[in-house]
Amino acid sequence: MRIWIVYIVLFVLISCKRDAEIIEPVSSTPDTYAPVIPAGWPNPVYDFTGNEVTYDKFTLGRHLFYEPMLSVDSTVSCGSCHMQTFGFSNGPSHAVSHGVNDLVGKRNSPALFNLTWQTKIMWDGGVSNLENQPIGPIQNPIEMNLSLGNALTRIAASPKYKALFEKAYGDTVVTSQRFLKAFAQFMGLMVSYNSKYDKVKNGNDVFTTAENNGYAVFKSKCASCHSEPLFSDYTFRNNGIPVNSYQDSGRYRITLDPNDIYKFKVPSLRNLAFSAPYMHDGRFNTLAQVLNHYSMGIAPMQNLDPLLSTGIPLNNQEKSDLLNFLATLNDYTFINDTRFKEIH
Ligand code: HEC
Ligand code: HEC
Repeated sequence: MRIWIVYIVLFVLISCKRDAEIIEPVSSTPDTYAPVIPAGWPNPVYDFTGNEVTYDKFTLGRHLFYEPMLSVDSTVSCGSCHMQTFGFSNGPSHAVSHGVNDLVGKRNSPALFNLTWQTKIMWDGGVSNLENQPIGPIQNPIEMNLSLGNALTRIAASPKYKALFEKAYGDTVVTSQRFLKAFAQFMGLMVSYNSKYDKVKNGNDVFTTAENNGYAVFKSKCASCHSEPLFSDYTFRNNGIPVNSYQDSGRYRITLDPNDIYKFKVPSLRNLAFSAPYMHDGRFNTLAQVLNHYSMGIAPMQNLDPLLSTGIPLNNQEKSDLLNFLATLNDYTFINDTRFKEIH
C-alpha cells in the first residue's frame, strides 16, 4: 500500500517536472503515437500518408498548438479557444469565439476530435484538408491576426523551435509544409473512442435500462444525421434553428449554391458534456434546450431538412432516456489524455 503511494507521488512529481521543460524527455513508444482506427469504424479520410507520425513531429505539433507567438500580440494560441477540458471547444464562457484584443467572432469554437474522418472541416466545410486548416485561424483578423509568413519567421527565430524542428525533421529549416504537417499530426491523433458507448460496443460494458431505451430513441429519431460510430454523417444540413443576428448563411458562403443557404455541418454528438454551448453559434447552453428545439422549436425556414419538417416529437420519458444515452458518449479518457495536454 505505502509503496504505491510513493510511486504515485513520484509519478506526479515526474509528470509535473516533465511539463515544465521545453522538450519532453520521455521517449515515445511506437504504439502510443501511432494513428488508431477503432474496431468497426470506417477508414479515415486523412491517413497520414506522406506525413508518417513520429513522437518528435507530434510533439512539435503539440507545442505549436499551444503557442501564443502565433497570434499578432502573442496572447492567443489555438489552445485558447480549443481547451482540452472542454473537449477542445471553447467551453461555456463564450457562445462565439473571442480572439486577439478580445475581438468577437460569429461562430462557436467546435470541439476537436476525430478530425481525420471528416471530408470537410469547419461549420461550413470551408476547409478540405486537415493540413491547411491552421492557416485560417492564424491569419484571421479576429482570431490570431498574423500572416503565415510572419508566423514562420517568428518560429524560425526561436531557439526552442530550432531544437524542436531539428528533432522532428533532422535540421532547423522551418517551412510551411513542415509546420502544417506537424500540426496535422497533433490534431489527427486526437481520436475520441473510449466512451462508455465504445466500451459497450466492444463488449466491455453494458448499458443501463435508461441508456438502452435512450439508444432506441436515438436510433429512430437522431441517427439519420448523427450516424454511428462517429455520431455524424458529416453532411451539411439545416436543422431548423432560426437565423441569428449575424445572418450566417453557412455552407452557402463556400458553395454559393442557394440550396446550401443556412446549412451547417452535422456535428458529432460525442463529448457533449464538455462542449456546451451548442450549435454553430452556441445558442443553446443545455442539452435540454437542444431537445426542446427538436421537439417544439423547429423553424419553417429555407432549406430546412425534410427529415425535420414536422419536428421530432419527444415526450418527457424519451427526453430523459435520450439524455442518459448521450451521456454514454462522453470520453473521459480523451479529455484527460496527457499526450494532448497544454505544453510550453
Ligand atoms: C479565437 C478563437 C480560435 C482560435 C485562436 C483558433 N480557433 Fe479553431 N475554431 C474556432 C472557431 C470559431 C471555429 C469554427 C469556425 C467555422 O466553422 O467557421 C474553429 C474551427 C476549428 C477547426 C475545425 C473543427 C471542425 O470540426 O470543423 C479546427 C480543426 C480548428 N479550429 C483548429 C484550430 C487550430 C489548429 C488553431 C491554431 C492555429 C485554432 N483552431 C485557433 C475558434 C478558434
Ligand atoms: C436532419 C438532420 C438532423 C437530425 C435528424 C438531428 N440533428 Fe442534431 N444537428 C443537425 C445539424 C445540421 C446540427 C448543427 C446545426 C447548426 O449548428 O446550425 C445539429 C446539431 C446538434 C447538436 C449540437 C452539437 C454541438 O456540438 O453543437 C446536438 C446536441 C444535436 N444536434 C442533437 C440531436 C439529437 C439528440 C437529435 C435527435 C433527437 C438530433 N440532433 C437530430 C442535424 C440533425
